[in-house]
Amino acid sequence: MVELSNKVKLDPWGHISVKDYGWLMRTFGIKPFNEILDKFREIAKPNRYMRRGIIFGHRDFDKRVINPLTKGEPVALLTGFMPSGKFHFGHKLTADQIIYYQRLGVKIHVVIADAEAYAVRKMDREKTIEIGLYEYIANLIALGLDPSRAVFYFQTNQKPAYYRLIQMFSRKVSLAEMEAIYGNMEPSKVISALTQAADILHVQLDDYGGYKNVIVPVGADQDPHLRLARDIADRFHNELGLERPASTYHMLQRGLDGNKMSSSKPESTIFLTDSLEVARSKLMRALTGGRATVEEQKKLGAEPWKCTVYDFYMFQLIDDDKGLQEIYDSCVSGKLLCGHCKRNAWDLLEKFLEEHQKKLEKAKDVVLKYVDPPKF
Ligand code: TRP
Ligand code: SF4
Repeated sequence: MVELSNKVKLDPWGHISVKDYGWLMRTFGIKPFNEILDKFREIAKPNRYMRRGIIFGHRDFDKRVINPLTKGEPVALLTGFMPSGKFHFGHKLTADQIIYYQRLGVKIHVVIADAEAYAVRKMDREKTIEIGLYEYIANLIALGLDPSRAVFYFQTNQKPAYYRLIQMFSRKVSLAEMEAIYGNMEPSKVISALTQAADILHVQLDDYGGYKNVIVPVGADQDPHLRLARDIADRFHNELGLERPASTYHMLQRGLDGNKMSSSKPESTIFLTDSLEVARSKLMRALTGGRATVEEQKKLGAEPWKCTVYDFYMFQLIDDDKGLQEIYDSCVSGKLLCGHCKRNAWDLLEKFLEEHQKKLEKAKDVVLKYVDPPKF
């Protein structure tokens, strides 16, 4: 567990890995997701991230998702990606959720945070646009999102009603308050945070469909943005009719070296565009929870909770809960050895990547039909 004292802010632009999800929930009042799982089961089959506690927390999910869906009222989803690097399995976790909600009838909005990538990550404009289109949007379509029923947009290519929100929000937020949420602030971060609030809240405006029930599924590191957006919604409730958005929080899958998964460390993750050769060698070198020798492992069993290959099974490769349990059991009992287990994981991953990469090539050809990229 990382020790985060109360003085340490959760920095969505930084590199703190949020391992202590309990701390996050206690400190910021995020509710455990499992408390509402049974109620949710009455209207839909929870996805595997919900069932396995990977989606561990929420705010207002019952009020803004379960209740309206039960009554047949419209729900919108808004989430986003910063196009700062290639699409990897960490991003797929969010993508899978977006697709899942679309199939439940939720109206999907996906933002490509190119303004944030430019200002905070100091990315080149052309590069972020290219990555936004051909990595993020193309992969979402290839994974099964129906682009004809989804809205994609770039932060730098929106309509005036959206930018007006950013300008208006600036009136009712103080720098001290932002520093209390984010830590040290500078103009690039102030603008990025207000822009993200506009992302989260703009779908409530009439120009954008007037959706009052909005769900924002994000990784735990994005919670500061949700807290700000909820406060802003309260302050503009009368003037603009804004309501607090609901959110869910997922754990971030660890990298293959056991540390943070990141596009800037290619060995820490598998990109969905990695060649089979590269993907295979990354997986084969991944950190496991195996023992020093085969004899020891047969005797003591291994430790799947330390194993990044097991993470892959749990997050990505096995949807069937019983199948996953069997791997866990044979791992801890010492029946399963790591070499064999990695080869099984590779068989599943290889099949997925082969099929996905074919779909991706087709998706790239249609991306421009569904989104208007910035012109400069
Ligand atoms: N800040 C997010 C990231 O780093 C991207 C983002 C921008 C976003 N706007 C959003 C995420 C709105 C969720 C909702 O990936
Ligand atoms: Fe990981 Fe499999 Fe080894 Fe268990 S047997 S530690 S799940 S690689």
